Amino acid sequence: MKTFTCQICGYIAFDQAPVDCPVCNSAIENFDNNPDAIETPADADNLSETEGTHIPQILVRRECGFNHGEECREIQVSVGEIEHVMESEHFINFIDFYINRQYMTRIILTPKNNHPVCTLHTKLSKGTLSVIANCNVHGNWRSKIRLDEMLTQEKQ
Ligand SMILES: [Fe+2]
Repeated sequence: MKTFTCQICGYIAFDQAPVDCPVCNSAIENFDNNPDAIETPADADNLSETEGTHIPQILVRRECGFNHGEECREIQVSVGEIEHVMESEHFINFIDFYINRQYMTRIILTPKNNHPVCTLHTKLSKGTLSVIANCNVHGNWRSKIRLDEMLTQEKQ
């Protein structure tokens, strides 16, 4: 996979480096071509302990708890099938969201008092949603889903 990493903020771009980083606004010169930017499980059906605590779990709800009506899909992300630790020396630093490989937003997490979990309320209802969780020790881990399929499943 062609990936480029911003050396300033850790943002990963797919396919090509952006003119400016969408997270920290640094210039294209600060991007490194880094095909190994994202960790990949050796066997997706038989995860090691490290893999199991890092792969983001994604849950999509058609209706949110606020009054956003039809316009809102609630996307919940929790890092790890077994929850990742949030200790000062080892924690989930940020969770980046992409739609069709384009940057959506970043949620920054702080250790100690927080779970490695976040919720995004989006107006989007189709496309491939990718989530990258960054661990300060173990690097970047990705999960992806098709939003329309997730919403259809929920309807049944
Ligand atoms: Fe970790």
